Amino acid sequence: MPPADPAARAARVFVEPGQVLPDRLLSEGFAPTAAQPPSAGWYLGLDRDGLVLRNAGGEAPFQPGPPPATRSRGPNAIARACGARPGLTVLDAMAGWGADGLVLAAAGCAVTMTESHPLVFAMLVDLLEGCAPHVQVEFRDARRLIPSGFDVVYLDPMFEPRRKTALPARPMQVLRDLVGRDAPDLGEILVLARRHARDRVVMKRHAHAPAVGVPDWRIPARTVRFDVYRPSA
Ligand SMILES: C[S@@+](CC[C@H](N)C(=O)[O-])C[C@H]1O[C@@H](n2cnc3c(N)ncnc32)[C@H](O)[C@@H]1O
Repeated sequence: MPPADPAARAARVFVEPGQVLPDRLLSEGFAPTAAQPPSAGWYLGLDRDGLVLRNAGGEAPFQPGPPPATRSRGPNAIARACGARPGLTVLDAMAGWGADGLVLAAAGCAVTMTESHPLVFAMLVDLLEGCAPHVQVEFRDARRLIPSGFDVVYLDPMFEPRRKTALPARPMQVLRDLVGRDAPDLGEILVLARRHARDRVVMKRHAHAPAVGVPDWRIPARTVRFDVYRPSA
């Protein structure tokens, strides 16, 4: 679980001479940390082509892209699970690269995303500025935003790596490399979310993973399912 104040975590940022970090990142406390690129691990690079995640170990650079347009059209499992409709307020409490939140935004929901990993957050800000500037994104631990009160709280914790399966797609591989296993205290976050969500809490799980607590109903999809919980009284 990320610490309560993620802004206190150091972000590794290398800015090429002559480039300036976007205002939004400067205002969140991001700053160039070194005169040279870091010698190990992932870091945020800024050059003439914009923000990119670079890896000192030689892995190819990474930039998350918007989800394919087809995912945003028509009814789909996540939209059904969340009861997506225009004006519904949704907290995408574990935003990652924003793919799920963007599906809900495309369905007309007023989506706020929150992400606690600094490098993931920085890339998400950049992505949303390009494709969904109306979606709000916060650099916070979800537990701080959940009490603000949303119709729906959407939770998508990292899945346990599974044996005998193909490698996950590159965006998820990079995320796993950066974040590792998150949310070991998912039960606590679920209790908080059920206390504050006005309409429901939705948690994405791998199709065969055990549920956290007792969902009120489930919406199955191809490899995952969405467990839906009513608010607690
Ligand atoms: C599986 S990923 C989410 C993927 C996302 N649904 C997508 O469509 O790209 C989980 C993300 O939740 C973030 N996270 C985990 N615990 C969090 C917390 N307490 N508050 C905010 N973000 C959190 C992790 O840093 C990670 O980026």
